[in-house]
Amino acid sequence: MTQPISTPDPQPVSTTVTRSAIFIVATVNEDAASRATVRAWCADVANLARAVGKRVPSGNLSCVVGFSSDAWDRLFGDPRPAELHPFREFGSGERVAAATPGDLLLHIRADQTDLCFELATQLMNRLEGAVTTVDEVHGFRNFDMRAMIGFVDGTENPTGNDAEHFTVIGADEDPGFAGGSYVLVQKYLHDMKGWNALTVEAQERIIGRTKLQDIELDADVKPSCSHSSLTTLTDANGDEVKIVRDNMPFGRPGSGEFGTYFIGYARSPAPIEQMLENMFVGKPPGNYDRLLDFSRAVTGSLFFVPSQPLLEALAEREPSLAGAVDASIDSQPSFEPAAALSADGSLAIGSLKGAPRHE
Ligand code: HEM
Repeated sequence: MTQPISTPDPQPVSTTVTRSAIFIVATVNEDAASRATVRAWCADVANLARAVGKRVPSGNLSCVVGFSSDAWDRLFGDPRPAELHPFREFGSGERVAAATPGDLLLHIRADQTDLCFELATQLMNRLEGAVTTVDEVHGFRNFDMRAMIGFVDGTENPTGNDAEHFTVIGADEDPGFAGGSYVLVQKYLHDMKGWNALTVEAQERIIGRTKLQDIELDADVKPSCSHSSLTTLTDANGDEVKIVRDNMPFGRPGSGEFGTYFIGYARSPAPIEQMLENMFVGKPPGNYDRLLDFSRAVTGSLFFVPSQPLLEALAEREPSLAGAVDASIDSQPSFEPAAALSADGSLAIGSLKGAPRHE
């Protein structure tokens, strides 16, 4: 009798909703020693999270780590996750989902800021000298799950088995990378004066839900350009395709900065990219998301999140040692030679190569 293939444990991608989060995006420095430090660190992440989390057992501390396409090639080489590619840009002019540098993502969540802060400190200490932080955002949960723009955010997120179904790569999909996920992040800054000058009814038509009670607008009044309409996807069978979001408000009122850190997990980048295309280009083109008239995406990166056992095994994997390691991951395709050097002989570190823009 053939045993069903089990999926390795995912990193804590869909956790309970927490009160705080820290998002750190960093580039990996160019030298071989830095790459070795980052690889070795992969085996420490879960242990550090466990140690810090034990200090407040009810604090729901967790950490998810992801790697960009370029970083994967430089750190680990082949085999690589089937759908990992550089962030694809969408839109043009004022309304653009732009790609920005980033090799490594840390998504740290807890119910207390001190837990997030302590884990971020411990994790970054071990990466000292090996990475350069290019963005760091400390997010907070705003009243009853309200985004910076005042609407409840996260309502239509799938939960439980559904969340796992939509975020975790199955054993039959990309066998060497089962248990993994893709995660896309964007940091948005809002024109809150402009947004607050709208009537509540106008805001509700932009989001597609009521503001106070968070109820979806009836189909006959909900515009096709509402945020909710443009981000609702169905597959060829008419079934909804969801992603798991855990956006966080952030800001510095003293400096007039008000933002939303968007983070979306899925088992393929495709649905998140389709949502971005619908929002930024429009569906049909021109019928774009009016939330973007009041929100500017200032960062954008795509990462692969390895399963928990693969993350730990990556500590032993070097592109130049292809084929020599990874006995711990079953059904992994055989290794290929190290990532090729780019034309100028460099390893194209931190570059955003080959990302076509969809306008
Ligand atoms: C400025 C940044 C953003 C803000 C403030 C924001 C806010 C919201 C709010 C208030 C809702 C309605 C409640 C809910 O179901 O969660 C929502 C829904 C949703 N958003 Fe966003 N969002 C932002 C960016 C994005 C991006 C970039 C994507 C995808 C690429 C996205 C995907 C979704 C999805 C899938 C839904 C659920 C739609 C449904 O099933 O009705 N959002 N968002």
